[in-house]
Amino acid sequence: MSGKRIVLGVTGGIAAYKAVELVRRLRETGAEVRVVMTTGARAFVTPLTFQAVSGQPVHTELLDESAEAGMGHIELARWADQVVVAPATAHFMAQLAHGLAPDLLSTLCLASAAPVLLAPAMNQQMWDNPATRANCQVLSDRGITLAGPASGSQACGDTGPGRMLEPIEIVQRLGVSGTGCLQGRVVVVTAGPTFEDIDPVRFIGNRSSGKMGFAVAEAALAAGARVHLVAGPVNLRTPAGVERADVRGAVEMRDVALALAAGADLFISVAAVADYTPAKPERQKIKKGPPRQTLDLESTPDIVAEVAAMEEGPLTVGFAAETENLRQHARDKLSRKRLDMIAANRVGLDGSGFESEMNEIVILTPEGETDLGKGNKRDLARLLVEEAARRLKGKDDIESCTAQNTRPATRN
Ligand code: PMT
Repeated sequence: MSGKRIVLGVTGGIAAYKAVELVRRLRETGAEVRVVMTTGARAFVTPLTFQAVSGQPVHTELLDESAEAGMGHIELARWADQVVVAPATAHFMAQLAHGLAPDLLSTLCLASAAPVLLAPAMNQQMWDNPATRANCQVLSDRGITLAGPASGSQACGDTGPGRMLEPIEIVQRLGVSGTGCLQGRVVVVTAGPTFEDIDPVRFIGNRSSGKMGFAVAEAALAAGARVHLVAGPVNLRTPAGVERADVRGAVEMRDVALALAAGADLFISVAAVADYTPAKPERQKIKKGPPRQTLDLESTPDIVAEVAAMEEGPLTVGFAAETENLRQHARDKLSRKRLDMIAANRVGLDGSGFESEMNEIVILTPEGETDLGKGNKRDLARLLVEEAARRLKGKDDIESCTAQNTRPATRN
């Protein structure tokens, strides 16, 4: 976490006082924190308090001559590796969901490419209101993380969901006090679909959005790894700190992935790679012709199987996207592709697997299985990364043990 640059937005809720403690906790991890306050927040806590705990001037105005000359809203948006808004009021979340930017904090959220985490805090009835529910859905669909709220007694006397998470829990959700289980490791993740061109205007693709793969890349980074993300055509922001290479077709993905896998400890193949590609893509647009057309297809390289077959290659984890007989088909892929682990998930037109924020995963290994259950893709990615890290450590232990046993005996 050392050196990570965090913009902490504070909005106008009673939980604003807890944000003071959050600044302290974040700084303890080695992060640099700059605080942005809304007018409402200043009714609860003074900027001077945040200035004292962050050791930095506090930003409050969108149109501030002195700030624009130095750290204006765009500079601040670019500066951030991570934006955290705690507490995030119902009003602020509604603004963000609708792309409104009337003040410094909302403008900054729109202008920043950094991941955004919101820690909602509000009365339980406001949290349950259909308008807030809909806004949460919109924000979550856009890849914004909602951490909390917790349930319990509230300052207004009500009891229910709406309490801001404790500062330490927010720090944990940021992954900053993660297990560090991949510290010093190099991880390659493939994500998204591949597009196989038929002619200059048409292609064969699939429904993968890249969300699962990007979540895995983010989780590996949070676990301390250097992460290379090989992404098919997707419309997602790169998690700050992840090194991304964009590719289009399966052959291009293979070339980039194999080159990176040669220096990696762990390879996680989340991409939905096309199994077939047009044998001879046309250079010109195919004109409308007879009522039936035949497309000649040939197999694409099996990227994950090639990585698994590399001599001294990385620990190799695949995904299995299945519409039926989940475990049986996944186990077949695990052994046929000679993988160390496979994450089996059901996909279908009902919205499972592809595109959604949620997934349900069972991890299979040659020895057994671990059911990760149903959850947010980010949470599942974290669990998957931890399982892979455990297996990686086990592999290292076996290798060092074998090396010791095969070392020639020393004479006295
Ligand atoms: O992107 P999202 O919208 O978030 O959706 C996530 C997901 C459903 C795409 C993801 O969770 C998932 O299941 N990814 C694997 C999709 C897939 O191609 O599964 P498969 O069962 O067809 O392939 C098995 C494994 O072989 C996969 O690891 C795949 O990356 C790999 N493969 C497949 C074909 C090929 N030519 N080369 C490969 O490396």
